[in-house]
Amino acid sequence: MKTTANFMKMKKEQEKITMLTAYDAPAAKLVEDVGTDMILVGDSLGMVVLGYDSTIPVTLDDMLLHTKAARRGAKNTFIVADMPFLTYHSSIEETFKSAGKLMQEGGANAVKLEGAGDVINTIAKLTAAGVPVMGHLGLTPQSVGVLGGYRVQGKDADAAKALVADAKAIEKAGAFAIVVECVPEQVGAMLSEACEIPIIGIGAGVNTDGQVLVYHDVIGYGSVHVPKFVKSYAQISPMIEKALKTYVDEVKAKNFPSQEHSFSMSEDALQALYG
Ligand code: KIV
Ligand code: NA
Repeated sequence: MKTTANFMKMKKEQEKITMLTAYDAPAAKLVEDVGTDMILVGDSLGMVVLGYDSTIPVTLDDMLLHTKAARRGAKNTFIVADMPFLTYHSSIEETFKSAGKLMQEGGANAVKLEGAGDVINTIAKLTAAGVPVMGHLGLTPQSVGVLGGYRVQGKDADAAKALVADAKAIEKAGAFAIVVECVPEQVGAMLSEACEIPIIGIGAGVNTDGQVLVYHDVIGYGSVHVPKFVKSYAQISPMIEKALKTYVDEVKAKNFPSQEHSFSMSEDALQALYG
């Protein structure tokens, strides 16, 4: 399994870091099998698999369940689990408890926290306690209500400078990497240049130290709205739909199950049964 030290080395050697989300065992296994460097059990699972329209309703128990499942599927990949909405703001005791659960019960190797401000101090306390932390800047979906929607962040000079200051503060607080979401490519490049720790981009251009995408978006599975920064490498929803429809049609037409999918009694047993 790769470690935070490996990710630092990859940045130094300019080897791109790959990250994908996974929320269950079979997805995590596939993500691991293709050699992805890191798995994110993102709170995007709220939208992608739980059917919510934001990440706000996601609970710690939701994250725990899915982190455990991902870990069972990918035993040898570094797993980052998102700390969900308001589970790292009220008190440090609560924060430690939440992070502890995700790591000790869930099997995560690290946790991800959104934002800067007060969160920077929290990151410092977590890392001091031995919890590897990944930051998350730019578009921070847990703050969608405050940001006023899902839109590109850091578009003007002041906002870009503020992002660099936040990233450096998060690095100083001890984070091992930072996800930067939905910023101009120039800002993605600037942040990667400014920080020693890896910047993992999503909608942040090609010049970040790594990339992360949502599993379902990459394979074209069930996603309703796909943002501009997503590339779907397959469209599996129509394939699933076709398989399901064919099954339903075959049952109605009594074409399934056929002999091939059925069990039979022996002649002797039939004889004994009917005489
Ligand atoms: O929850 C998630 O999937 C994320 C990524 C988009 C970075 O936080
Ligand atoms: Na997230």
